[in-house]
Amino acid sequence: MREDLLERLAHAQAARARDALLRRVRTVDSIEGAHVVVDGRRLLDFASNDYLGLARHPRLVEAMVRAAREWGVGASAAHLLGGHREPHAALESALARWTGRERALLFSTGYMANLGAVSALLARGDLCVQDRLNHASLLDAARLAGCTLRRYVHADVHSAARQLATEARAPALLATDGVFSMDGDVAPLRALAALCNAERACLMVDDAHGLGVLGAEGAGSVAEAELSQREVPVLMGTLGKALGVAGAFVAGSAALIEALVQGARSFVYTTAMPPALAAATVAAIDTARFEGWRRDRLRALIAHFRSGAAARGIALFESRTPIQPVVVGDSARALAISERLRDAGLHVPAIRPPTVARGHARLRVALSAQHAECEVERLLDALAHAMNASGARDETALAAARESDACVERDDE
Ligand SMILES: Cc1ncc(COP(=O)(O)O)c(C=O)c1O
Repeated sequence: MREDLLERLAHAQAARARDALLRRVRTVDSIEGAHVVVDGRRLLDFASNDYLGLARHPRLVEAMVRAAREWGVGASAAHLLGGHREPHAALESALARWTGRERALLFSTGYMANLGAVSALLARGDLCVQDRLNHASLLDAARLAGCTLRRYVHADVHSAARQLATEARAPALLATDGVFSMDGDVAPLRALAALCNAERACLMVDDAHGLGVLGAEGAGSVAEAELSQREVPVLMGTLGKALGVAGAFVAGSAALIEALVQGARSFVYTTAMPPALAAATVAAIDTARFEGWRRDRLRALIAHFRSGAAARGIALFESRTPIQPVVVGDSARALAISERLRDAGLHVPAIRPPTVARGHARLRVALSAQHAECEVERLLDALAHAMNASGARDETALAAARESDACVERDDE
C-alpha cells in the first residue's frame, strides 16, 4: 500500500520531539535596542546577526522610507522584465566598489544567490568540492547543479586537495564559507586560493558573516586575506547580517556577472528585491565602511567575552568573529541551558542537528556592537551558572565534538 505522506511527516515529527530536536518559531513582539520582547518577556538578544547594530539605524530607516515614497513598496517585476530600478543599479555599483570587483549582481536572498551561482556554473560531470561545515545553501546548490559533490575535512586544505584529485580532469569549483556560520572561524582562504590556482579550480567564497566585520572598511574575509578577483573569481555576500537589511549579491568579473544574468535561474525567475531595500542597503554600506568604531567595539566585546569565558572555565572554539559558539554536545542539554538563559532574561538559541552534526549541539552566542560590556558580563555569569546547573562538562563536550568531527571526515573521504 502507498505510504501516506502526512502520516510519514507525523512520525518524523514525533521522532524529532523525542530527540529534543523540535524547532519552534517565536514571535518577537517588539525590539528595544539590544533587547527583544518575546511572550511578554524582555530578553537581552544574543541571537541576532546584526553584528554592527545597523538594522534599526535611523539613516537606513530614513533611506528606506524616502525610497519607498519615490519607488513604492515592491519592484513589480523580475530584474530582466522592468523590475531593475535605479536603487538596484546604485547598490550593485556600491557593492562592486566595496569588494574590489568589476561587477556585482543582486539576488533576493543568500540562499538564492548560492543556488543561482553554483547551478549556473556547474553541470553534470563537473566537480564541486566543499568544506563540510559550509552553509546548507551551498550544499543544496551543488545538489541542484547535478554535479559530483565532495566534502572535505573542515578547514583542511590537504583534505580539499585530495577531494579535488579524485576527479583530476573534471571542471571544478571549490566553495567555502568565509566565516563559518555556526563555528565562527575563518576559512584558510589564502591556502585555498593557492590550491585552486595550482589545480585550475575556481574558488567561490560565501562571505555572509565576514562582510562588514572583517577586513579594511569591513570589505570582508576575502579583502582581509588580500585576494584579488582572479584568485577568488566568485564572491558571494549577504545583506541581511552585518548590513542589517536583506538580500544578497554575487561579485566578480563582468563576464561572470553577465553569465549569471543569463543563466542563474534564481535571478531570472523571481521578482526583484524592493527598491527601498536596495536604497537602505546603500546607506548601510556607507555606514559599515566609514564607521570603523563599530568594528573596533565589536572586537573589544569579542575579546571581553573570550577572556571572561576562559576565566569561568567555559570552553570555546577558536573564533575571532562575533559568532562565539559554546558547544555542549547533547541536544537536550543545549535546549535546557538555552531555557535557563531565557529564565535569566537572555536570548541565546540552542543549535541542534541537523544544523550541526549529532553530538555537536551548542549555544550560538552572536555579539553585536550594540551590546554593552556589562551585558556581555551578564551573559557570561548566566552562562556559567546555567552550564553548571545543567551538569554540562563543556571541555568534555568540546573534545568529544572535535573527535567525532574527525571521524565523520574520515568517512567522507
Ligand atoms: C554562510 C551563509 N550563507 C548563506 C546564507 C543565506 O543567506 P540568506 O539568509 O540571505 O538567505 C546564510 C544565512 O542565512 C549563511 O549563514
